[in-house]
Amino acid sequence: MTVLVTGAAGFIGSNFVLDWLAQSDEPVINLDDLTYAGNLENLASLDGDARHIFVKGSIGDFDLVSKLLAEHQPRAVVNFAAESHVDRSIHGPEDFIQTNIVGTFRLLEAVRAFHGQLEKTAKNEFRFLHVSTDEVYGSLAKDDPAFTETNRYEPNSPYSASKAASDHLVRAYHHTYGLPVLTTNCSNNYGPYHFPEKLIPLVIHNALAGKPLPIYGDGQQIRDWLYVKDHCSAVRRVLEAGQLGETYNVGGWNEKPNLDVVHTLCTILDELSPRADGKPYKEQITYVTDRPGHDRRYAIDATKIERELGWKPAETFETGIKKTVQWYLDNQAWVANVTSGAYQNWVGKQYSA
Ligand code: NAD
Ligand code: DAU
Repeated sequence: MTVLVTGAAGFIGSNFVLDWLAQSDEPVINLDDLTYAGNLENLASLDGDARHIFVKGSIGDFDLVSKLLAEHQPRAVVNFAAESHVDRSIHGPEDFIQTNIVGTFRLLEAVRAFHGQLEKTAKNEFRFLHVSTDEVYGSLAKDDPAFTETNRYEPNSPYSASKAASDHLVRAYHHTYGLPVLTTNCSNNYGPYHFPEKLIPLVIHNALAGKPLPIYGDGQQIRDWLYVKDHCSAVRRVLEAGQLGETYNVGGWNEKPNLDVVHTLCTILDELSPRADGKPYKEQITYVTDRPGHDRRYAIDATKIERELGWKPAETFETGIKKTVQWYLDNQAWVANVTSGAYQNWVGKQYSA
């Protein structure tokens, strides 16, 4: 038995593979194109481990995916591969259309052909799990109920629109071709190996480097935070027991305004790694121009996955965020490597006044 996991050199995918192989000996084929967000250093602890087979390539390469499927005969495909950063999608949507929409389409085509020729038992047991986001549902007002699986799709950024399109393709391949699909829509993740272009790792990195902590707009936008290992356990659970064709919202009931998150990070850093001058890190907070079309609030109602599949997160925000800050303090070499080179160009483009 084998699983094919795409995008597993990225933040969530690499955590998923590390957790998977910590709990089972079932090998993982990791197909990742190693964009700026893909980093094999995340998986360095698996060097020499025959259960992890890395293949560099795109989910949009039909021939390559078909070859991998034929060669390894996986019992499941878990699709994490995507362009994932909203701000980058605003600067340049093309890559998001190519990977998230066209790439997912080509991946589905290759999987459909593979699935079609499987013998009966393997065909029945096969799964295609598509990892998506809560952003496809759009933005909530302050007192709106949290997103359920039946909310309308109202994506607002090129990123979320491209993810929404991929979700629709996955759904269509189930209804039209009978492909055994599952979709998860998760809230904001945080934890180890999170690339420091996203709020939490960016703030930790900038704080320690004595740089401004940029808050978009008034900082009162709300996100619903989930520790990455809890997202990984949810994906494993859905793969194991999810109903075919169903979608599952994944979240930890942890809504926080951005400014509160940044204050929490500053307080933890004050305790674990105080500034040399003894001043609080919150003095580095700086208000910057808001993100165009910035969604005001996301919140996930995770009742369905809790009720039907018995999944629950293991971490609270308080335990997860402390672990995360400690991980960054303990892994400054990883941070130094990923923030050299092209990262500097991105920071210059995004945060220049
Ligand atoms: P990431 O940007 O850290 O990693 C994406 C990975 O995909 C990288 O390793 C990259 O090299 C790879 N990739 C990009 N284009 C590819 C292609 N064409 N073919 C193969 N590999 C390619 O992203 P992440 O934060 O780990 O997110 C993973 C998935 O989870 C995405 O689908 C994202 O939409 C979804 N998601 C993320 C969050 C979050 O908070 N980060 C929340 C919910 C859902
Ligand atoms: O909700 C799930 C989504 O969460 C995933 O689908 C995306 O892949 C993931 O990137 C994340 O999207 P967000 O846009 O919510 O995450 P980001 O970390 O970029 O921003 C979190 C919030 O913080 C958002 O309201 C914007 C704000 N922000 C972000 C940055 C980078 C700032 O105020 N300042 C910043 O410098």
